[in-house]
Amino acid sequence: MYTILEHPLLQHRVTLLRDISTPPKLFRELAGEISAFLAYEAFRDLETGPRRVCTPFREMEGGTIATRIVLVPILRAGMGMLDAVLNLVPYASVGVLGMQRNEETAEPIPYYAKLPKPDGNTLAVLLDPMLATGGSACDAVTTLKKQGYHRIIFLNLICCPEGLARLEREHPDVHVWSAVEDECLNERKYIVPGLGDAGDRLFGTL
Ligand code: PRP
Ligand code: URA
Repeated sequence: MYTILEHPLLQHRVTLLRDISTPPKLFRELAGEISAFLAYEAFRDLETGPRRVCTPFREMEGGTIATRIVLVPILRAGMGMLDAVLNLVPYASVGVLGMQRNEETAEPIPYYAKLPKPDGNTLAVLLDPMLATGGSACDAVTTLKKQGYHRIIFLNLICCPEGLARLEREHPDVHVWSAVEDECLNERKYIVPGLGDAGDRLFGTL
């Protein structure tokens, strides 16, 4: 299951993000802003629990978030989405998964995992700007499931048909929330038109 948000405010930001002349500082700001829009939509159905509060005029029953949330950026590019999402849900916990694509085969190589223990209802929110072959995302979801996570969503800036199809095939229970779906992968398994290497552009390592 996936949702492509396709909103003018997102299209504007993704267009600037793609631009090869956008420097890392602006790239990070744009990635953060897009991530916040994605999280706002993806969190629309979060359960709230009742909470009584006193306004200056009277007492009333409000509601506060009742779901335990764990944000899981995939290192390294997922870090570019973390702060913005954490600002929206500051009570969330953070786990990390380190994953590096092999330059030749594009297969993911996991190199680090640090995850808090989930309870039965914990929502894991995977963060990664690029869904290309889908190898990294599928590997990350498999690791989360092995650790006991059953509710998983994936927030993503740019996806493509190949990555969406693979995630749908291997993990149909994971809802992907993406700002835009691009055309295809090139021969090096990069998203086209895409934005290049997200990690390099975020952290100035081109
Ligand atoms: C990028 C990106 C994803 C992965 C997507 O990471 O952030 O994790 O590639 O490609 P896939 O869908 O084909 O697996 P990369 O391996 O370049 O590492 P980095 O974030 O450290 O730059
Ligand atoms: N990883 C990236 O950073 N960009 C792509 O287009 C594909 C994988």
